[in-house]
Amino acid sequence: MKVLFLGEIVGRCGIGVIKNALKKYREDNGIDLVIANGEGATGGFGLGFQNALTLQHMGIDILTMGEKSFFKIDMVEGIGKRSSILRPANYPEGVPGRGVKYVTVGDTKVCVVNFLGMCNFNNPHLNNPFLAAAGLIDKIRSETPVIFYVFHASATAEKVAMGHHLAGRVSAVVGTHSKALTADARILDGGTAYITDLGRCGASESVGGFAPEPEIRKFRTHVMTRSMESWEKPQMQGLLVEVDGRSGKALSVETVKLDVEVPMPEPKG
Ligand SMILES: [Fe+2]
Repeated sequence: MKVLFLGEIVGRCGIGVIKNALKKYREDNGIDLVIANGEGATGGFGLGFQNALTLQHMGIDILTMGEKSFFKIDMVEGIGKRSSILRPANYPEGVPGRGVKYVTVGDTKVCVVNFLGMCNFNNPHLNNPFLAAAGLIDKIRSETPVIFYVFHASATAEKVAMGHHLAGRVSAVVGTHSKALTADARILDGGTAYITDLGRCGASESVGGFAPEPEIRKFRTHVMTRSMESWEKPQMQGLLVEVDGRSGKALSVETVKLDVEVPMPEPKG
């Protein structure tokens, strides 16, 4: 089974990347399942419900999120209507949506899990993902060994530690949130595919998908400034993983970094 994990989709340029590249890439490479982080798709800050539906129509099977899961208010209600949109599983009881999704790929049962890290987020109310993961993964393994763990976390060390924590127990641990494609894709002992960060779908020559100027101004002045979407050198970034459907073990990993043409829209007015 071939699974494509895509980095955070950032803004209209990111949506354009998916629109212009995913269908063909999926067909050319015989991909069975596409999992992408979508929490920056709506203007870089959150995921509106309509944008989520559009992205799924373009070929993304499962959308994951992170600390910005509910930045767009329509997702609070929308997430309950669509089980293929995940928010981190370690949100408190009673929060709308879910962090675990079972899907069938061919005749193989697959589970996708989304968790949020602890470092550098203002979220002390969330369950410790290291403690929460252990029991949950054991439970899922009684149903299927094919488990994809999407870890939305900021600190490299936290993501690397999670990779080793779950090595041999899941098919893949992939990191999101940093929006910088890392060069450490590999298969850990026990057959777990791993990468610290999947990068982004959107402008690659930018500050996390945003135009540099306002971001530099923020660092120089510490005055909040509106971020601006960038359209420089659009790319689709992520990781292609081949997994043995019976054992759940990863067979190969390949970093994806594809240039995509996305024309910048004409300014309004
Ligand atoms: Fe994030």
